[in-house]
Order: sequence, then structure tokens, then C-alpha cells
Amino acid sequence: MNGKKYIIGNWKSNKILSDVRSWFTKFNSLYKSDNKISLDNLEIVICPPFIYLPEADNLIKKFNLPISLGVQDISPFPQGAYTGEVGASQIADFAKFVLVGHSERRSNFGETDKLLFAKVDQADKNGLQVVYCVADNQTLIPQSVTMVAYEPVWAIGTGKTESGENAGKVADSIRGNLKTLKIIYGGSVNSKNITDFLTGNRLDGVLPGGASLDAGSFWEMIVNASRI
Ligand code: PGA
Repeated sequence: MNGKKYIIGNWKSNKILSDVRSWFTKFNSLYKSDNKISLDNLEIVICPPFIYLPEADNLIKKFNLPISLGVQDISPFPQGAYTGEVGASQIADFAKFVLVGHSERRSNFGETDKLLFAKVDQADKNGLQVVYCVADNQTLIPQSVTMVAYEPVWAIGTGKTESGENAGKVADSIRGNLKTLKIIYGGSVNSKNITDFLTGNRLDGVLPGGASLDAGSFWEMIVNASRI
């Protein structure tokens, strides 16, 4: 758990193209104006809606930003006749990370363990790093998964959070004997509480949603995390 800390911004179904451009432009100016910050201990990831992956990829390259891309979902099928789906091999052109099993997918789209396991399988076959989202320590986790996001449903988008201490305890119980399993926390993480989650080395990172939408507040989280 002494490796890099992950800060994975989940934009959900937010932003239009012009917002995406403004976000990266603002992030770039904040990043370039702070020449003292060291990001060596952080892995920074943004998960935009699928449709903005190419533009986000272009902007990251243009500004030379220390940001990797992730996606919020993945097809359980390979490329082919699956109308409306985006497959792992298509995602792999742009993104390294994929969220699987977010509670909003489970509750709004009826995603089952069986479906989610098929999604993980597709991600694995195409070399994508799965971030498998669970609501508690009872949720089934596919064996190949190496990174889990613990996200209590009551904390998502509500402004209420687990304490770092409790989140760490749940992380320990999810990890069990699998000492190398990385566990991050999500649910109303912001620049004020991020330090609580990242100190003490029980958590490997955070998954902010709302607080990642503004480049300024996302940057503040990074600055605070870099000081830990
Ligand atoms: P939130 O979302 O930070 O807005 O609570 C977190 C998530 O759902 O991943």
C-alpha cells in the first residue's frame, strides 16, 4: 500500500464538448503555474463520458498533462453486432482504466454480478485496469480484480462521507488476506476531506465524482494529496 495513490475523477454523464475543453485548459494553467508540486506519488485519472475520450486524449497530449484516461463502463461483449455498446478493444485505444459495477449502473441499469463479471473478463482480455466498485464488504468481486473502489451508496453525491478511519477498516475487511489488493474510497470526496482518506496508508486512493467536475477543485485535491 505504499505505492502511488490514485485520484480517479468520475465525471459521470456530465459536460458538453466546450466544458471538456475549458476543464483541460484550466487544469493546464493550474498545473503549469505550480512549479513546486511533485506528482511522483500520484496517479491521476479522469473518466469522461465515452464520447469525449478522443478530445480528452488530444488535450492531454497537447498540454502534456500527467493525466491518464479511464471510462465509466464497458461492454460485456467483444467488438461486433452489439448496438450501442463500446467494447474493450475500442476503449483501449484511449484509456487505461475502467470502472465496473458503479452503484449507479447496478441500480439504474440493473447490472448483475454475472454481467459485471463478463465486463471484467473483456477488460482483462484487452489489458485495461479494472476498478471494481462495491458498496460494502459483502459484494462479490471477480478473482482477477486488483483494484476495488469501496463506495457506500449513502455517501455518493450526498456530501456525507465515511471517516477515513472507517473506510480504512472496511478496506481491510475487503482486502482480507489479499494483501496486494488495492482499495480506493469514493463517496463525496473533496479537497477538504481527501487528506483524511489518504493518510495512514490503509487506502490506495480516492474516486471523487462531483469534486472532479471543476478543474480548480480537482487540482486542490491533487495539491493536498501531493503533500501527504
Ligand atoms: P461523488 O461521487 O464524489 O459525487 O459522491 C462518487 C462516485 O459516485 O464515484
